[in-house]
Amino acid sequence: MTTTTKTVLVTGATGTIGRHLVGELLARGHRVRALTRSPDKAELPTEVELVAGDLAAPPPAGLFDGVDSVFLFPAPGVTGFLQAGVPHLVLLSSLAAALEHERDRGSASQVHHAAIEDAVRGTAASWTILRPGTFATNLLTWAPPIRFTGGVRGPFPTSAQAPIHEADIAAVAAVALTEPGHAGRHYPLTGPESLTRVEQLGAIGAAIGRELHFTESTPEEFRAEMRSYGVGDDIVSMLLRYWSDTVETPDAVRPAVAQLTGKPARTLAEWARDHAADFA
Ligand SMILES: NC(=O)c1ccc[n+]([C@@H]2O[C@H](COP(=O)([O-])OP(=O)(O)OC[C@H]3O[C@@H](n4cnc5c(N)ncnc54)[C@H](OP(=O)(O)O)[C@@H]3O)[C@@H](O)[C@H]2O)c1
Repeated sequence: MTTTTKTVLVTGATGTIGRHLVGELLARGHRVRALTRSPDKAELPTEVELVAGDLAAPPPAGLFDGVDSVFLFPAPGVTGFLQAGVPHLVLLSSLAAALEHERDRGSASQVHHAAIEDAVRGTAASWTILRPGTFATNLLTWAPPIRFTGGVRGPFPTSAQAPIHEADIAAVAAVALTEPGHAGRHYPLTGPESLTRVEQLGAIGAAIGRELHFTESTPEEFRAEMRSYGVGDDIVSMLLRYWSDTVETPDAVRPAVAQLTGKPARTLAEWARDHAADFA
């Protein structure tokens, strides 16, 4: 815990990670300025200073005045928002940008986040880049089939990933935004354990007290189903390559959450309990 009060500009403050981050910063006694396209719908704590603005446009005049650090959400078109003289900047990026796996080369996530990382490293005098792997919140796509059918259908049930709780990404961001020693660092972030997709479903079932069934489908069936929902082929291909790869080589678990926050990363069981209402 730092003793110096900072003023932090949070973009993406109304999002899943951003809301946790705002809460974390206020609880630590810091001041928060939040940029949002819709201040009237933001529903953030009253002590937050709201500023109307769009990350795809140049920043509103005075946005950075008195600000010690900035949490940058990787919105499309955000590179035009960056300008010389921004204070210490903490970017939400993705593990895909690290290009640790051949499967990531040219993927939608790798291309998008790598371009923003380059812009940040080229513009900000001081920066920290957070590279989370798969979010536990991606599992919320399972909520409708769980509620209505008691299970899910999908390919690669034995592939294993290490989903990260959104509150842990926010907790790491809060440290990097307000404490010294994190400039020029890239932090890969994951959950604390690699679990098969069947085990992930089991964690959700345990949280809501139901036995849930995983029905295997083929990659082609999954692609057709996603197409019918309007999900882009690039996203579907990225998912299929990820799951296929992590059958033989489960996601590696990274230590940065515990190292930076001083607390173990939250388990998927904990995430599922936090989100039980979404699935019940
Ligand atoms: N899903 C994964 O597995 C994964 C893995 C690695 C990285 N990521 C990254 O994490 C992001 C998702 O984070 P999240 O779940 O916290 O997001 P989220 O809940 O979807 O929230 C999006 C936030 O971004 C803000 N925003 C979007 N476009 C904006 C714009 N043009 N101008 C100003 N604000 C804008 C929104 O603010 P307003 O609507 O209030 O303006 C909102 O606060 C992904 O987009 C991806 O870049 C995801």
